[in-house]
Amino acid sequence: MKVSIVGSGLVGATAAYALTLRGSCSELVLTDKDEKRAQAEAQDIAHASPVSHGTRVSSGPTEALQGSRVVIVAAGANQKPGESRLDLTGKNAAIFRELIPQVAACAPGSVLLIATNPVDALTDLATRLAPDHAVLGSGTVLDSARFRHLIARHAGVDPTHVHGYVLGEHGDSEVLAWSTVTVAGLPVDEFMAARGLPWTPEMRAEIETGTRDAAAHIIDGKRATYYGIGASLARITERILGDRRAVLTVSAPTPEFGVSLSLPRIVSAGGVQGTVMPRLTSEEQRALEASARVLREASAGLEG
Ligand code: LAC
Repeated sequence: MKVSIVGSGLVGATAAYALTLRGSCSELVLTDKDEKRAQAEAQDIAHASPVSHGTRVSSGPTEALQGSRVVIVAAGANQKPGESRLDLTGKNAAIFRELIPQVAACAPGSVLLIATNPVDALTDLATRLAPDHAVLGSGTVLDSARFRHLIARHAGVDPTHVHGYVLGEHGDSEVLAWSTVTVAGLPVDEFMAARGLPWTPEMRAEIETGTRDAAAHIIDGKRATYYGIGASLARITERILGDRRAVLTVSAPTPEFGVSLSLPRIVSAGGVQGTVMPRLTSEEQRALEASARVLREASAGLEG
């Protein structure tokens, strides 16, 4: 099955590399307005193919998207130190207004997976610009992974066995839904008590800060994030290609909130098959509604 990536910068190229190492698809095409960059990234990644799963990796113009099952859109500017994701809205929305109709025309029937920030507002915009396509955004899949990674360190278990969700905006108003967190099937507080492990409000505050500030901290140190988001994009893509009915906090239009945001979604061949509204505390519910307000304001005026 064929996957294409529009935008061969650090995020797009790393997602391509992750898909190649994981053998997620049989064919991978990279495109970019800077054709030389797309060609170089594709050539470099193709050299990993013989020592991994034999993925056919190439680059090309937008027309090369034809036949893709999934198109990952990672084109646009990324955050600079001190910049919020929402600061990128105008610049990247302008890019999308030109780009998404072209992508939709060249890749009929594909699922569009939006990675460009602000991913929620741009998922909303792409949904309007490509009304005949299934559209979803990477949303808070990465944030939920960061949340689980930090909890797992305190719990002393494999992070793939820590479950829990970050909801709402992939950004400053995101909601760390502690009430959804389980370890070995137990609510996290019960697990920590059962294991006799220290578990204090200070530890939870440290995990919250570590989750919310992860991107800013990494950008401050190396100017961009790309490994976590690249692997998250590969995971979402694999669940679509495999028709896996996986539960992931991807961003998608959510009528109850009047905007695209992240909730636990059932992700499969056609994109989002369904949404599972978690049972939240009243404080978490208020925070989710506040996050939706932030996103409605950010999306207002992004006609498309
Ligand atoms: C981050 C970018 C992908 O959170 O928004 O690392």
